[in-house]
Amino acid sequence: TLHGRPAYRGYHEYSFAHATMQSRLPTILGKAIEDTTRTLNEQSSEEKVVDLVACIERMGDLMIDLSENHKLRPIIDDDEADVALWNKEIAKYFQGKDFMNAPWLFAEAYKYRRLHECFSVSKFWKDYDVFYRQKCDTFSRSAEAVFELSMRFAEPFKISDNLSPEDKLEFERNMFKRTHPKQIKSLQSTGGDHLAATEKNILGNHLSELWESVKEVRSKTGGRVDFVLDNAGFELYCDCVYADFLLQSGLATQIRFHGKRFAWFVSDVTRKDWEWLLNTMVYGQLFPKATDVELESLRRLGQRWKQYEKEGKWVYEQHPFWCTGYTFWELHSEAPDLFLHLSHSDLVFFKGDLNHRKLTYDCAAPASTPFDVAIGPMASSAGAPKVVSLRTIKSDVVVGLGDQGDEIAEKLDKEEPGWKISGKYAVVLLSEGRPG
Ligand code: F6P
Ligand code: MG
Repeated sequence: TLHGRPAYRGYHEYSFAHATMQSRLPTILGKAIEDTTRTLNEQSSEEKVVDLVACIERMGDLMIDLSENHKLRPIIDDDEADVALWNKEIAKYFQGKDFMNAPWLFAEAYKYRRLHECFSVSKFWKDYDVFYRQKCDTFSRSAEAVFELSMRFAEPFKISDNLSPEDKLEFERNMFKRTHPKQIKSLQSTGGDHLAATEKNILGNHLSELWESVKEVRSKTGGRVDFVLDNAGFELYCDCVYADFLLQSGLATQIRFHGKRFAWFVSDVTRKDWEWLLNTMVYGQLFPKATDVELESLRRLGQRWKQYEKEGKWVYEQHPFWCTGYTFWELHSEAPDLFLHLSHSDLVFFKGDLNHRKLTYDCAAPASTPFDVAIGPMASSAGAPKVVSLRTIKSDVVVGLGDQGDEIAEKLDKEEPGWKISGKYAVVLLSEGRPG
């Protein structure tokens, strides 16, 4: 518990934790086994085949542990940078716990670490990503939106010098709203009405405070913005469009992207996904139906982004802490180097549902709880950076809905399907941080 509020656990049948631990995770693992079997059937070398069969057997063992709700065991020492962190947390808090009675957030993360272990102890398949195929697919299936954006943003944009400083700012503010990662879907119908309609579903909305913070980044010496990434493919592409806008407008001078070291919660970005996206934009042949003009726009965008990386304006990083079971309440104590690193940023975006759960400890806090209270040390520790959470609500924890939050939540509780898993609602929440 946190301040007497329980963290969600698998046996809480009222919570999405239950459906996840009971059926979603075994289904995901089943698909992972199918993917690996497909890869197995494409192999020729005996050594590699035998090695991969052993990986599939280990996945079978994990399936038994998961579906029969066995106790959580330590992670095998596979020489990975995160083993010590994992086993320390298991020993300290979760010894003797099983998949269902350990906190949901931890048990779910643990499953992805165990899945990674099936491969990390092998000889040839240490970095195998069981979700890679499907991550690539999401991008190729978003063709329409991909080109909508590339056609719009391939040309570096220039704000006319004739505009007054106020008009320039207004132009930037509009771009900020339109390129905003969570707004991107509404670009397809660019009308203001549509933007307004999507804003109604942002239940906790600090967009205007966020704009104030984004404007301030320009005056900071570093001008550095960080993205703690969530999903690969189209979502990553949208994050990059936004990061590109921040650079081009001169609001930021450096962007740091934080990804995962191995396959994580199905769709999260790894370095391979990052490289794949940039290279497929420049060299790929994913879109046979696209016109030459469209393809050229995608290529130009990809070339510009690769150039940013060469110049150090974009930096991709992957700290081991992101793939542990710890929440971000423990970031400053369990990964002090990472906390210090983030404290040098002028603004840190946390993308997605999982990051939001980690920020808020994934516990049953009232919806009226202010965001900065809910994220604890990430707001209150000396050196805490400005933190923004951009999240489509996909699970139980909801905070930051304001003074009327508890009444709003109560009303929404009557919606079917449940408003916390329908993906219809979002939050954009900002914490001002605390100078070191
Ligand atoms: O709905 C909950 C969930 O599936 C969790 O398992 C996980 O936290 C999350 O969604 C993943 O979503 P996202 O990619 O938005 O973090
Ligand atoms: Mg994700």
